[in-house]
This record gives sequence, C-alpha cells and structure tokens, in this order.
Amino acid sequence: MQMTKPVILTGLRANNDLQIGNYFGALLPIILMAKQRAGEYQINLFMPDLHSFTTPVDHAQLQNNIMNNLRIFTAAGLPLDNPDVHMYRQSYVPAHSELTWILDCFAGFGELSRMTEFKDKSARLGVEHIGVGQFNYPVLMASDILLYQAAYVPVGDDQRQHIEFTRMLAERMNNRFGELFTLPASMQEQAEFFGSSEGRALRIMDLQDPTKKMSKSDESGKGCIFLGDEPAVAHKKVMSATTDSVAQVNHDTINQPGVSNLLRILALLRGVELEVVVHEFNGVTSYGDFKRTVADEVAAFLTDFQAKLAAVDDTAIKSKLAESEALMNQQANQTLLNVQKAVGLR
Ligand code: TRP
Repeated sequence: MQMTKPVILTGLRANNDLQIGNYFGALLPIILMAKQRAGEYQINLFMPDLHSFTTPVDHAQLQNNIMNNLRIFTAAGLPLDNPDVHMYRQSYVPAHSELTWILDCFAGFGELSRMTEFKDKSARLGVEHIGVGQFNYPVLMASDILLYQAAYVPVGDDQRQHIEFTRMLAERMNNRFGELFTLPASMQEQAEFFGSSEGRALRIMDLQDPTKKMSKSDESGKGCIFLGDEPAVAHKKVMSATTDSVAQVNHDTINQPGVSNLLRILALLRGVELEVVVHEFNGVTSYGDFKRTVADEVAAFLTDFQAKLAAVDDTAIKSKLAESEALMNQQANQTLLNVQKAVGLR
C-alpha cells in the first residue's frame, strides 16, 4: 500500500444552504479533528460530488455549488497548506466509480433493499420514482472508504448503517479473495477513538420550534440561521426566537427548549463549555438582554465569517485540489488494481 500513515476519511456533503447547525455540528468539528490528527494520520476530506444527485438537483448550479462549498470549508479554517490533509472531489478519482461496479456484483440486492434511507425514500415516493443511484449509493460510499484503506470514518449517527455495510462488504471480499481491504472501525470503536471532544457537538435546534433540529428545509426560514444571512436579519431571528415564561435562564431542554438552545448557540459561538454561559446568566429573570447577547454574538460571527469567505483565494483551492487529486488517484488506483487482479480482470 502507498498510504504510509493510517487514514481518517470523511465526505463533506455538498449542501448549498449551509446553516449554523451544520457549521458547528458537522463542519467545524471535522476541521478541528483534521488539524489535531494531521501529522500522525492522513486526513482525506472529500466532496462526494457523485452522491449529489441521487435525488434530483439543479444541474446548472451543481458546479457552482461545489466551488462554493469548497470556499466555505476553506473560510471555516480547513488547513489547505497541511501536507497530511487532502481535499478532493470524488468524480476526479475515477477509481471510485470503477470499484463501485465491481463491488456491486458482490453486494446483495436484498441487503441494499433493507437500507433505511432507501426504504424511507421508496416508501415516500414509490419505487418507480427512485433512481438506481439512490439504491446503489451505499456501495459507492463503501468504495469511497475502502479505496484508501481508511481506518476511521467520522460520520453522524445517520450513517451508521452505511459504515456497517462497508465493513461487511470488505470482510466478504477479504474472505473470498484475501486481504484486499482494511475494515474501517465500527461506530463503537470510533466513539472510543475520537472521544467526546471531537466530532460531537452541541445540537442546534430551530429557533421557532426548538423541539426540532435546525434545518434548511424550514419553510419560513425564520427558525434557521444560514451562513449567508445578513447579520441584521439573523439578529432579528434570534430576537424573535421562541422562549417560555419560566423567567430564568436555565439549560433545561424539557421545560425550556428555546432558552436552552440559545445557551448552546452562545457556547458554540464563543467556543466555551456550556456551563460557562449558563453560569453567566445565573439569576437573570428577563430574556431581553440574554437574547440580545446571543443575537449580537450571532451577528458578529456572521460578519466575520462572511468577510473570511469573501477573502478566500480560489487559486489556493484549485491548486490544493490538483495536488490532492493527483495523489488520491495514485493511492486509489493501487487498491483498484489489487481488486482487479483478485477478481481476474488483470
Ligand atoms: N453519505 C454521507 C452523508 O450523507 C456522505 C459520504 C459519502 C461519506 N461518501 C462517504 C461519508 C464516505 C463518509 C465516507 O453524510
């Protein structure tokens, strides 16, 4: 194998309207993890662009969205100059598609039919309206991981089934053809490896309905703060966030979900422990100033982030992509060749 360091790999899903929930919940923890683990590990952070139209998208916008997302990752602090951190687009490494076909022939139709994501979508839309790409996507994800012999794949719990499927498929291939693939760690092993400080963050809820997760699909947009929101608009959203009539600033997600959410947002923005902000508002009995503190902090964060985004240098992104994609092609092709030999294609 050409990988000299153990690999930590994850796909940074292209999502046009990133909001602060994704930013603090997914993107920032991954970037911090990359900074901490580089040196000892090879860190593969890739854009799963081939995954981006398993459900319909506006293809005229796709290229733009991919570049925008890469700019956002860079503005968020992704260390482009770190030689252990690789940023690449899946479709620029054709081995992902080629390995997918081969693994397809060893994956069970029944197995893939039982995937929760597929079952949910086909129940909702009907199988006639589901693309084969949606059905097949766990095999592409397995290829994304196995091509680089990744040891750890930090993902949200919604991806658990895909990690388990990858492990099972790798094991099946290894049993049949010899040691082709490293099995990525199970979710349990990953939780132990990463601990509680990495990859896990305080959950941000909808400002209007703090019992549900903040989501870009929120109809009115009032409950959700997008990274592209005008700071003044975001300020208003926080000021009109749902609270309660308890008249105490406590972190109590059952009885005071709205106030608790604002406390978590403040802690994340300031990069401090939740206890610190809870302590700060101890004894406060009206919400006006508390909300204003959070709203000011949100507005300041957006002002700063948007300035960083405007200053991102596209040529630095493009040269990083070119460099990473050249190296990733070498590594992935090596694994692909081993598989091709094992199955008798070479
Ligand atoms: N399926 C992942 C998600 O929806 C994204 C993804 C694609 C991924 N390929 C991957 C994550 C490989 C980790 C490893 O979030």
